Amino acid sequence: MCGIIGVLGSHEVAPTLVEALKRLEYRGYDSAGIATVNAGALDRRRAVGKLVNLSDLLVHQPLAGKAGIGHTRWATHGEPTVTNAHPHQAGRVAVVHNGIIENYRELRAELASHGVPFTTETDTETVALLTEHYMKQGLGPVDAVFKTLDRLEGAFALAFLFDGEDDLIIGARKGSPLAIGYGDGEMYVGSDAIALSPLTDRISYLEEGDRAVVTREGVQIYDARGNLANRAVKQIALDNARVDKAGHKHFMAKEIAEQPQVIGEALNHYLPAGGAEVVLPGNGIDFSRIERLTMVACGTAFYACLTAKYWFEQLARLPVEVDIASEFRYREPPITPGTLALFVSQSGETADTLAALRFCEGKAAQIVSVINVPESSIARESDLALPIHAGVEIGVASTKAFTCQLTVLLMLALKAAADRGTLDADEIADHLAAMRGLPQALNGALDQNDEIRAAAQRLSEARDVLFLGRGQMYPLALEGALKLKEISYIHAEGYASGELKHGPIALIDKHMPVVVMAPRDDLFDKTVSNMQEVMARKGKVVLVSDESGIAEAHEGTFATVRMPAVHPLLAPIVYAVPAQLLAYHAAVAKGTDVDQPRNLAKSVTVE
Ligand code: AGP
Repeated sequence: MCGIIGVLGSHEVAPTLVEALKRLEYRGYDSAGIATVNAGALDRRRAVGKLVNLSDLLVHQPLAGKAGIGHTRWATHGEPTVTNAHPHQAGRVAVVHNGIIENYRELRAELASHGVPFTTETDTETVALLTEHYMKQGLGPVDAVFKTLDRLEGAFALAFLFDGEDDLIIGARKGSPLAIGYGDGEMYVGSDAIALSPLTDRISYLEEGDRAVVTREGVQIYDARGNLANRAVKQIALDNARVDKAGHKHFMAKEIAEQPQVIGEALNHYLPAGGAEVVLPGNGIDFSRIERLTMVACGTAFYACLTAKYWFEQLARLPVEVDIASEFRYREPPITPGTLALFVSQSGETADTLAALRFCEGKAAQIVSVINVPESSIARESDLALPIHAGVEIGVASTKAFTCQLTVLLMLALKAAADRGTLDADEIADHLAAMRGLPQALNGALDQNDEIRAAAQRLSEARDVLFLGRGQMYPLALEGALKLKEISYIHAEGYASGELKHGPIALIDKHMPVVVMAPRDDLFDKTVSNMQEVMARKGKVVLVSDESGIAEAHEGTFATVRMPAVHPLLAPIVYAVPAQLLAYHAAVAKGTDVDQPRNLAKSVTVE
């Protein structure tokens, strides 16, 4: 998952390229680079690590030119080094790439047989070398690129720049998103609307197989069959405001703190005027015609789906399957005409989830997505896209998007219950009224920050941590473990409380903290038994519960975190806050990079 940008400008483009890369850094930050046509000649600047390193380099070694391309990298082939950093150049050709060229070894061997030398370990260099190879055979830039594209297998969004061509960028899309931006006397290409929004509000999205020949006059788009194609120019309304930390030390802290507000906005969007029914956009969903729901997602979004399974099945009596997106297609699930296929994704660009969505096209009754970026690929390829209104989420570890996903999914489950008649109007109204209390409950959870930080300090000293939950709290145990490991680098696993005794309890000793997510609900007594099993083996239990739960079971615990008493259905949403803050404070204690943890990217746009 990388971010690419291209600008045919009326001014020096280096600052514009870097500013766009800042908005693409969520896609990866192992290295960054730009190339321009400067006085007719290609020139490059590249740096390892975060974009700030490239900015520093450009201060000392400025790069002139009014045509340029840029790239921020999450390494797929080859270590994060300057040599492997994009843009890659071969003779007269420079290229930036998001995706994976699956047949690059075969192409390298073919080029090697022509005596073409390689200088990097990347698949992308092969693209530049092949294009240069065809130009040496006498083809012009466009024909050479098109001939190269015909040879490539795999997924790519590409932008090409050429020596001596100050008014030409060629873009191509196959499997990875690429947008065309229309300026006044300027033109742009970029991975997504977020990157282009400071430059223009007029954008076209390339479709699968499209190739774009861009000059300052405009763009000629050719479809996969080589025919000229028209792609709609959309007016985008993206939040151009530079996202800042609003006084917080990290974006993650800000986004955790924003949850009461953004959940309130999500509720208002789907429950207009405090209404007693869920109102969906577009043609909505008629759950009375749905026999089965299949939900597909990755990471945190997957845990939101696992939580929602409890709600759809308990409230609407609707059979639900939940799959990890990267496994879904290979299971070859039977998607029947009565199946609703639901895809949850914060970025809306996750390649695994997008591929799963495409598997369901033409098979499912309806394809619905729950997303945070309405302009994203997943949203655009859905029959119905349901925004979660979380606002821009910069921290790589998903927080407010998770609780907003859960909020929207719970409202959907109640809509399903209404459509299927499994709950009457009064019961629906009661549940929706309880949901309106979510912002206040979230604030109550946030008020426990000091208590949570104290518990997190002790977690930060551990080598391994377990998270336990039962019923609808089990997915939150998985999410709590993911949060901790992805930002503090402490190994953590989530387990169903009842599963501990079937093996994992062998891990328990006095060094092992065990975080138990357990509101005083119908399953609490069984969870207390599991806690006792842990403490009998000197395990250190951190009990996250409400007043009554802690009063009943705090004896012998290592630490307790007190949550407000909440409607049972809302517990997974409210208890997400301690899960997030435990991870956050543990990471701060360990000094890791909270907002951009090592090896990660915010949106994984490769399979
Ligand atoms: C969550 O904290 C992680 N950053 C990651 O698991 C993420 O949830 C996953 O990559 C899915 O991303 P998406 O919601 O944008 O599809």
